Amino acid sequence: MSFIQLDNITKAFSEQGKPAVDKLSLKIKEGEIISLLGPSGCGKTTTLRMIAGFENPSSGSIKIDGASIVNESRALPPEKRGIGMVFQDYALFPHMTIAKNVMFGLNKWKMRDKKVRTKEVLELVGLEEYADRYPTQLSGGQQQRVALARALAPKPHVVLMDEPFSNLDAGLREKMRFDVTNILRRANTTAIIVTHDQKDAFAVSDRVVVMNEGIIQQIAAPKEMYRCPKNCFVAQFVGKTNLLTGKMDNDLRNIHTHIGKVTLPEESKERMENVTLSIRPEGCMLSEEGAYCGSVERVTYGGEYQELHVKLHNEPELSKAPMIIYAPVEQDVEIGSIVSFDIKPELVAMVE
Ligand SMILES: Nc1ncnc2c1ncn2[C@@H]1O[C@H](COP(=O)(O)OP(=O)(O)OP(=O)(O)O)[C@@H](O)[C@H]1O
Ligand SMILES: [Mg+2]
Repeated sequence: MSFIQLDNITKAFSEQGKPAVDKLSLKIKEGEIISLLGPSGCGKTTTLRMIAGFENPSSGSIKIDGASIVNESRALPPEKRGIGMVFQDYALFPHMTIAKNVMFGLNKWKMRDKKVRTKEVLELVGLEEYADRYPTQLSGGQQQRVALARALAPKPHVVLMDEPFSNLDAGLREKMRFDVTNILRRANTTAIIVTHDQKDAFAVSDRVVVMNEGIIQQIAAPKEMYRCPKNCFVAQFVGKTNLLTGKMDNDLRNIHTHIGKVTLPEESKERMENVTLSIRPEGCMLSEEGAYCGSVERVTYGGEYQELHVKLHNEPELSKAPMIIYAPVEQDVEIGSIVSFDIKPELVAMVE
């Protein structure tokens, strides 16, 4: 059974123009961690704010645990929704200690219970020793954990987090992805995390919801989303890819493209004439006698791999995009050199 259910949520800030969120439907299971992923302005924060109750949908309804929290005729106020929210800038009160910040969300609780719960959640986020410090005396990652502790303190059914990792540097970001998911799992909280960073989304969530222009493009587990992106937008937004068009062979498995024949991981379920393929750069493996051959136009050293832009020999003059290929760093590749490669079918997908 779904724990959170969004049905056809639409938000239009003005009569004219496209809605910020357009007929969005989504079901989330209890304890599940979901990310909303998409480019700036695609409607992520607006969706989160409608769930939290800071914004009312123009139409559609939201249920949590079977109860309607907003529909065409009524909207439950934010404080009655059982939702904890972590804002992008953490929104901690600078003049209050960490303990007071956490207690703030418990104003209706008895003093004794407040103290016990505050200690409990500070332990959960690993900050019990910092209770008497002020927010400015903590690092970014510690402040973020305080914000999470404050959101979790009243035992909400749901935690919503808006860009929780965006203020953190790369190292801390990685650690916090791990810490935050651990904390949420231990508290068995259902969570929706908004991010525009694919790595954040993949690292923290059970399922990822990719949005563009207010519309859901795909909902899938991270691995499936990467391996089988539904359309060109998703393929390009989650990781780099090469998009090629071609015609399907009678065997339903091979696609004839301008770079040659490309093989799908399995037979297509339906016969199609024109097909668009997404080929991941790491699916292109340099090899002495590879089926495809071209000259290297660009080499970008990426640490774990090097990114090559390869102009294919049998490519028509006017074809714009070179193939992007990830090559092992230990391999010396010069600009202008000729390379040949094969394509792993497992990293080829048909997209809309
Ligand atoms: N209060 C508002 N009044 C009018 N338009 C708004 C309002 N809030 C958001 N919008 C518009 O709605 C669209 C979606 O905004 P939203 O903040 O949800 O995007 P986002 O996906 O969170 O983007 P970002 O990654 O930049 O935070 C944008 O075009 C934005 O300009
Ligand atoms: Mg936003």
